[in-house]
Amino acid sequence: MAPIITTIEDLRRVAKRRVPRMFYDYCDSGSWTESTYRANADDFAAIKLRQRVAVDMTDRSLATTMAGQAVSMPVALAPTGMTGMQRADGEILAARAAKAAGVPFTLSTMSICSIEDVAEEVGAPFWFQLYFMRDRAFNDRLIDRARAAGCSALVLTLDLQILGQRHKDIRNGLSAPPRLTPATVLDLLTKPRWCWAMLNTRRRTFRNIVGHVEGVRDTRSISAWTGEQFDPRLDWDDVRRIRDRWPGPLILKGVLDVEDAEKAVSTGAESLIVSNHGGRQLDGAPSSVAVLPEIVAAVGDRIEVLMDGGVRSGQDVLKAVALGAKGVFIGRPFLYGLGAYGEAGVARCLEIIRTELDMTMALCGHRDIRDIDRSILRAPPP
Ligand code: FNR
Repeated sequence: MAPIITTIEDLRRVAKRRVPRMFYDYCDSGSWTESTYRANADDFAAIKLRQRVAVDMTDRSLATTMAGQAVSMPVALAPTGMTGMQRADGEILAARAAKAAGVPFTLSTMSICSIEDVAEEVGAPFWFQLYFMRDRAFNDRLIDRARAAGCSALVLTLDLQILGQRHKDIRNGLSAPPRLTPATVLDLLTKPRWCWAMLNTRRRTFRNIVGHVEGVRDTRSISAWTGEQFDPRLDWDDVRRIRDRWPGPLILKGVLDVEDAEKAVSTGAESLIVSNHGGRQLDGAPSSVAVLPEIVAAVGDRIEVLMDGGVRSGQDVLKAVALGAKGVFIGRPFLYGLGAYGEAGVARCLEIIRTELDMTMALCGHRDIRDIDRSILRAPPP
């Protein structure tokens, strides 16, 4: 590992050099003007911490729980589609790094490696994220497969009934299979390491779906199938039906409004994730951290509140916890690590965040993450 890697931004720069542009841009983009994408990180930066001195800072602990499960720090890897295109076998590499670090890995419905691939190569437990499809039998089968593989929580994503438009993906011809132009081919020639790894894996298509749906056999047929499968009719009764089918912890992802948070509570789910899909869906929506306090105030005593979006450091994790989140998910930070250095890069990403979180907590005068509350934050100026 190059010694210059000390921040998530360092990992991003290396990933940008190593991952083909089409897939790097897919990761590092938001919808339309990307204003919500930018606000997610910018709003964290605006929150200030209280520096405390002359307090005992020995024997610190970051251990806590998320969705009732022990974690070594309040951080989980977010579900991300096509992770296996940032680096060959990306889901397996990231799941391994997460397991070694004692944090949950969440496998997306739209992953390249399947539930069974991750279970076989890394082993349970990991978490599974479900996109609600029109084909209800497919949803049921996925839930059953996740259960059989030993997944210990189900994350149901609610904010992608239709797909937000991302200009970079359209310009880059991101599709299944990718549209190859002279520019894309030239770009691939400058990424020999990526190409070599990709040629040496048999996992190059959406394996949760291909072979599990009648008529979907290859990359071309999957494109047609997924194009019409995200279900625009999804409603709270559907969520309740998923609740009934899944016996373990259910985590509802994509709640950004107090009224929806109340409905999430009424489904009996264990947790919700305050999220705007990393700024990839409704551009113009507030940042996750901006709405976190009002959602915690409204429902925090009845459901576990988690959050994601814009977490780029351990300081951000601490701020989210101070505002009432039990834990956070990170998306792009671990994808940058993966694209830059594979499994070692994801491990480095988690190490960076852990060290920053631990030291920041200490400098705020605390030794146990479970004691963190709003008192570590400076009140905004009147
Ligand atoms: C995502 N996200 C996402 N969410 C989900 O529920 N299922 C998915 O398949 C995906 N796919 C996906 C791909 C990529 C490339 C990104 C960047 C994000 C959203 C993800 O789970 C999470 O909400 C955000 O990534 C959090 O924001 P940060 O940490 O990336 O700023």
